[in-house]
Amino acid sequence: MTYSRIVGTGRYLPERVMTNFDLEKIVDTTDEWIKTRTGVERRHVVEPDQTTSDMCVEAAKKAIEAAGVNVEDIDLVITGTTTPDLIFPNISTIIQHRLGIPACTAFSLEAACTGFIYALTTADKFIKTGDTKCALVMGAECITKLVDWTDRNTCVLFGDGAGAAIVVPSDEPGIISTALGADGQYKELLYYPVGQSTDLAKAGTDEANIIMQGNEVFKVAVKTLGAIAQEALDKAGVTKEELDWLVPHQANIRIIQAMAKRLNMPTEKVILTVQDHGNTSAASVPMALDVGIRDGRIKKGQLVLMEAFGGGFTWGSVLMRL
Ligand code: ACO
Repeated sequence: MTYSRIVGTGRYLPERVMTNFDLEKIVDTTDEWIKTRTGVERRHVVEPDQTTSDMCVEAAKKAIEAAGVNVEDIDLVITGTTTPDLIFPNISTIIQHRLGIPACTAFSLEAACTGFIYALTTADKFIKTGDTKCALVMGAECITKLVDWTDRNTCVLFGDGAGAAIVVPSDEPGIISTALGADGQYKELLYYPVGQSTDLAKAGTDEANIIMQGNEVFKVAVKTLGAIAQEALDKAGVTKEELDWLVPHQANIRIIQAMAKRLNMPTEKVILTVQDHGNTSAASVPMALDVGIRDGRIKKGQLVLMEAFGGGFTWGSVLMRL
């Protein structure tokens, strides 16, 4: 049986850093409130002329270098994002061309904060069928371009960035099990009200802002993430005690702590970046994975559970050995 395995990761964060103290000057908030309720201390923010593909290209270069593959080897590019450069061509084709990857299968998918987990799961299936020999999988977002900087309920939460992984076939896992889910009944709890076929005229107006019922999102997130993590473990016949690392979506420190508690995982076994990155939506999990690998905490052969939850709602988890 063929499995798939991540053999290199990379991340890119925009140079501009915005601290909670910077936000105190813009909206009626405090560093203390933001830190206590969310865990966020600072976030990176793109420049107006910087795009999601700009960030992806930099993250991908690092992943390609870490994996020791050539761009000519890559035959699948998938990007999870809700903030692509353009509606078409899809962002993966832009990245493919900019990196000099030969013509190949390239598409983007939209699953909000779960974008990378959906993209990685898709790449896993392409590799298992034998269609793909080397996949570049990314989660990236310039979500701050959607943020209303006068709305303290949402603007303190988000940040920008891109994470990338190179995934190749392997005789041994690698990716052991995956679990995805979605339920559109929760749309009203978290959404962006402007789209290409809905209310496009609102773009650039006060009405174009992330709509979120934070408390409700919180409750469903904790419940659903617990179930989806367990599903990936059950599929693999692995117990939570065997896990070496939890790499969660970095939405909110309190959601992460609730998840860690359910999995009986001490804080030392959880990769935390929310304090430095904020919620970077689809970029959150691959960037956290890259942080854990590059600083030497996540070691080859260790058992890692990644999980995410986002607008839709969508949710998913991937259990793998590095
Ligand atoms: N600074 C100061 N006060 C604030 C701020 C702020 N930035 N934002 C809201 N408040 C106020 C509210 O107005 C409210 O005041 P009131 O009691 O006078 O009405 C008070 O703080 C409490 O507001 P709540 O919304 O009840 O605060 P809560 O403890 O629920 O925290 C938060 C809000 C952080 C959004 C939390 O609900 C949360 O994290 N939810 C999950 C949402 C999430 O993660 N969204 C990201 C996208 S989805 C995803 O990635 C999973």
